[in-house]
Parts: sequence; C-alpha cells; structure tokens
Amino acid sequence: MARQIRWGILSTANHALKILVPAIREAKFGEVVAIVSRDAAKAQQAATEHGIPTSYGSYEALLADPNVDVIYNPLPNGLHKEWTIKIAQAGKHCLTEKPMALNAADAQEMVTAFRQAGKKLAEAFQWRHHPQCQYVRDTVRAGGIGDLRLIEAGFSFMLDRPKDVRWDPALGGGALYDVGCYPISVVRYITGAEPLSVTSHVHWHKRGVDDLVVATLEFPGEVFATINCAFILPLRRYYEVVGTTGSLMVPRTYNPTKAFVGQVIRRGVDRETLETIRFGRKNSYALMVEDFNRAVIEDRDPLFPGEDGVKNMRVIDAIFQSAREGRAVTL
Ligand SMILES: NC(=O)c1ccc[n+]([C@@H]2O[C@H](COP(=O)([O-])OP(=O)(O)OC[C@H]3O[C@@H](n4cnc5c(N)ncnc54)[C@H](OP(=O)(O)O)[C@@H]3O)[C@@H](O)[C@H]2O)c1
Repeated sequence: MARQIRWGILSTANHALKILVPAIREAKFGEVVAIVSRDAAKAQQAATEHGIPTSYGSYEALLADPNVDVIYNPLPNGLHKEWTIKIAQAGKHCLTEKPMALNAADAQEMVTAFRQAGKKLAEAFQWRHHPQCQYVRDTVRAGGIGDLRLIEAGFSFMLDRPKDVRWDPALGGGALYDVGCYPISVVRYITGAEPLSVTSHVHWHKRGVDDLVVATLEFPGEVFATINCAFILPLRRYYEVVGTTGSLMVPRTYNPTKAFVGQVIRRGVDRETLETIRFGRKNSYALMVEDFNRAVIEDRDPLFPGEDGVKNMRVIDAIFQSAREGRAVTL
C-alpha cells in the first residue's frame, strides 16, 4: 500500500494547525499538500510555519486543486454543511469536524452528496479509534460487567474567551454542538444502538447559546444513559459504564493523544478497584487519519462513515426538542 493520500486544510483553524496537521504527518499513507485561508497572507504564513508546500487565499481555489485528494474541514460548526457539500461537488473526500452539521436533515444532505459523488465522508470523532474505548465496548459485549444498565458521560470546560466562535449562535455555537456531541456518540458507541427516547434540560446563556445541558436517554433492553456538557463548569471529560456486576470508568476520554497514557478503571460490585488497564500513549487523531487514508486507498467506508454522524445529529435534535417542549421525545 504505497500510495500517499494528499490532504488540503480548509482554513487556518487553531485545531487544524495544532493537532490535525501533525496527526496527518504521523499517520501512515498521508501528507499535507495545501492550506487555505480567507486571507492569503495568513495562509502563506501558516504554510511557511508548518512546512506546507502550497497556500491559497480563497476556499474555492483549494477545492479546485487537482493535487488534493482529501479536504479536512475545521470551519465553525455553522459552515460545515455548506463547505462539506462543496467539497463533494469538487470531487474530493472530506473529513469534517464535529458536529457534522446543525441538524440531522442537513447531515443527511451531506451524506447524500458524498454517496452521489462516490467520495468518502467521516465526522472527526477521533476517540473512537483509540483502543481504550474499543476495550470498553468489547468487555461490555462479552458480559464482563454483567448486564449493562447505565452509562454516565460528561464533557465540560470553562469557555472564558469572549470572542470565541463557540459563543456565536449564527456560527453554530453552544455547548451541545461543541462538546455534548461527544458523550452522545459515546453512549451510542458502547450500546451499539440508538436511543428510544430522550428527556433533557438546557440552560441558555445570555449570548443566545446553550451553556449547560443534561439529558437522559433510554436505550433498548432497559439501558439508561445520562449525558451532560457545559461551557460554564470545570474541565471534565469522562464516562462510566455500569453493569450488574461491576463498572468501567474512563477518566480522560474524548481526545486521547500521546500526552498521556490511556486507561480504564475496572471496579467490582462493592468498594474494590479490581484493575487499572493501561493502553500506552496513542494519538487517536493519527489513528483516525490513518483509517481515512486506508478507506480511500482500499475504496471502502471509513470505520465510522457519514451516516453515523446523521444518527448523532438526530439525538442532538431530540435533546433540543425535549427542552423546548418540556417533554420526553421518542425517536
Ligand atoms: N476533534 C477535536 O478534538 C476538536 C477540537 C477543537 C475543535 N474542533 C472543531 O474544529 C472546528 C474549528 O475549531 P477551532 O477551535 O480550531 O476554531 P478556530 O480556531 O476559530 O478556526 C476556525 C477557522 O474557520 C475559518 N472561518 C471561516 N469563516 C469564519 C467565520 N465567519 N468566523 C470565524 N472563522 C471563520 C477561519 O479560518 P481562516 O481565517 O483561515 O479562513 C478560522 O481560523 C470546530 O468545528 C470545532 O468543533 C474539534
């Protein structure tokens, strides 16, 4: 498998420059060939600083570059749909940032555009490529904690930058889109199912975006999950999976990199901690990029194709609907 997949970076987003460009370089079978910004000088500066051969001053120019196979889309959430569909129309594959869109209907349009173009689309939930979550799912499926009954998952941090786009409702700001999408995808991943019903409470910030969300999800087989997310609480990024004979706790889960050792803590029915399982230092972003490269080379779907993003968006839609209407929403 000698082919190199050529990546173009759609904007000088902080996350692209800090995390994704190094991850593409770390992953097998990929290289970064071009970057773009709305401001040509900014693109040129980023290209020089990060050793990227080509830079452009308009997004359309990157999409038209015949030397680019895949475009990574880290635009503000409210622009994911528009530009991801343009990427499909330009005949390129796309790894788009989470959340894939602002609602399930838009996400479905994106998926349809890629299926029609015969190109690959995936949402950039890198944590699913790390062995610590695969271990949790396999252990639950093998009955290692008895019958699964409860999952608790949360992601919060203090968003103390007043100019951050996450505060802007027009650009798809808000805690549920930004961080709540992770716990939702965790509970869907571990159960391997979609929720039957959703009940939620949403707290609205004066700037017009949600800043604290709590939701209860009921899954088939009498399995319940609670998820929470916030911009106004300290940093927490965990999930705990609880069965009738024990539990598995993952303390730092949504963005595992080589900066720390991935681990899962296994507890029994009483006060005992049975085991701490360690997974070494793995960069889940590079694992995600490598899966995408292989999907393009082997002409198969990525491990989590765009359709998975549509299902995640359906739960986000239901959480907003439940809070708005003050009732449980059946999916
Ligand atoms: N998977 C993860 O672990 C993770 C972590 C952090 C963020 N993210 C996701 O990555 C995306 C970007 O996040 P970020 O924190 O890197 O954002 P950011 O630094 O604010 O970058 C967003 C970029 O979008 C471009 N842009 C185009 N139109 C814009 C507009 N109207 N207003 C503002 N920017 C505009 C800008 O690039 P130019 O000026 O160069 O055109 C800007 O640099 C989001 O979707 C976020 O959810 C994912």
